[in-house]
Amino acid sequence: MKWKRIGDILILDSKFDYESYDDLENLSRKHNVKTIMKIDHIQGTKREPVYTVLYGDETETVNKENGCLFKLDLAKVMWSKGNNNERLRIAKLVGDDETVMDMFAGIGYFSIPIGVHSNAKHVYSIEINPNSYFYLKENIKLNKLTNVTPILGDCMEQAPKYNADRIVMGYVKTTHHYLKVAIDSLNEGGILHYHETVPEKLMKTRPIERVISQAGSRDVELLKLNKIKKYAPGVEHVVLDVRIT
Ligand SMILES: C[S@@+](CC[C@H](N)C(=O)[O-])C[C@H]1O[C@@H](n2cnc3c(N)ncnc32)[C@H](O)[C@@H]1O
Repeated sequence: MKWKRIGDILILDSKFDYESYDDLENLSRKHNVKTIMKIDHIQGTKREPVYTVLYGDETETVNKENGCLFKLDLAKVMWSKGNNNERLRIAKLVGDDETVMDMFAGIGYFSIPIGVHSNAKHVYSIEINPNSYFYLKENIKLNKLTNVTPILGDCMEQAPKYNADRIVMGYVKTTHHYLKVAIDSLNEGGILHYHETVPEKLMKTRPIERVISQAGSRDVELLKLNKIKKYAPGVEHVVLDVRIT
């Protein structure tokens, strides 16, 4: 893919070739976008973009996905198009009157679809990056949600203050460090959605073993192992749905 569109902004692939400003102007007209950017990579625990603006100057936009509105500034926070199906899948699993905790909530990648598509009793959305937290609050307003509470802070300190029937851990790399606090906050029979980036050959062993090792005396039942996308050559981004009793 040479480009992707997020709201009214076009993100060019790093390999996308153009010769002049006129080429960019034509591209912006063709796709009806106000800005064209390249995002080199997403860095650090706060998942901040390293980017170049090639055309236009506004980097804030509203992206519509799965019937939800996501306001975001692509110069400040990330957007992963590849997680689209997973965002809707989780929202559809949430049962009536469930209390949900969204650890690593970002701008509401999971919290907003849950608020829009389910009858959850309450969603606690914990996010450490003040820029993401700002857009999380904006998106709660934009989607007219009254049952989502944004919490600015570190999941390690905030999660123990709440209990939930379902916990989403939509973060990769060091997510396993947070398994104990998540499991401790999970109600009896509750469900955890645990994300991990894992070498393909360890996909069926390492993530579940990590959950079991942090569950102590509680039982762990694997409900589903879902591949989200290829993360790097030979590395998969997976999510495990597990019931903890
Ligand atoms: C960007 S999201 C991952 C993408 C998302 N799963 C999706 O569907 O596109 C991960 C978020 O976790 C936040 N984060 C990282 N460490 C955290 C922590 N210890 N406590 C709370 N939030 C944290 C980052 O700031 C980031 O906004």
